[in-house]
Amino acid sequence: MNGCINHAMIDGAEAKAAQFAADHFGEPGCDDITKAYIAQKYEGYSAENQETWQTLFDRQMEYLADHASSTYLLGAASINLVRDFIPYLEGSKSVNIFLKQLTGWQSKGVPGYLPAKSFFACLARREFPTTVVIRPKEDIDYLPEPDIFHDIFGHVPLHADPTFADFLQTYGKAALLTNDPHHTERLARLFWFTVEFGLIREGGVNKLYGSGLISSPGESLHAITSSKVERRPFDLETVCNTPFEIDHFQPILYVLDSFDQLRDAMNSYSNRLLSASPKAGSSTQPAYN
Ligand SMILES: [Fe+2]
Repeated sequence: MNGCINHAMIDGAEAKAAQFAADHFGEPGCDDITKAYIAQKYEGYSAENQETWQTLFDRQMEYLADHASSTYLLGAASINLVRDFIPYLEGSKSVNIFLKQLTGWQSKGVPGYLPAKSFFACLARREFPTTVVIRPKEDIDYLPEPDIFHDIFGHVPLHADPTFADFLQTYGKAALLTNDPHHTERLARLFWFTVEFGLIREGGVNKLYGSGLISSPGESLHAITSSKVERRPFDLETVCNTPFEIDHFQPILYVLDSFDQLRDAMNSYSNRLLSASPKAGSSTQPAYN
């Protein structure tokens, strides 16, 4: 199926029911986020899909070997992320077998975008909503929506790290429970400038860890080398007050000293937030991935 997503994997009755559960999570009778999950249906991947994975993996891992955070690289190895096959979410070869023992995180198949509250509900359970389809070969350089390369290759290796794992769950719990649009916007910025586009200082050198950088050949190079990027030291308050722009390479990036710094800042913010806004709600927010 050239030029389009492998829709057969996400168009069945199970996927439609899952998307409904995700879209209506939080409404009366829709309080089980696990109903948003779908099986991977691995046999649905074509030979071309597998080739696309291998091409993406080879091209990007070569660059990341020198420019990604050691935490990312260690995580990728520890969940057995390999070029040979699109990652499994279920069964004996699954990344989840390794994650379970390392941090208790799991990757769960979803049919598409999740509304924000549904996405946060997954994170709060130490479960990462994972797009199962992969981009078409024709769009190998850029796909606007997430696919399994972005979600597994880009995000999941960090879930093998205990410190990042705790940070992400704390983020999910805080974002799920706050009803204040001001804080919702701040948390969206925090996610953007860390989970998606974060840099970290290791051995005096800037390294990549954000999934949007890790999974993008063009932007990973730009983030490390471009003189047009302003690389600021991470400070949670500053990050939360910085608007972000989409659809072009990021002009501002924030650099962590360590993942401990991120976890500790999130713990502190979460404690403040939850003591001020203890009740769960269902405000309308943008989708995440
Ligand atoms: Fe992402």
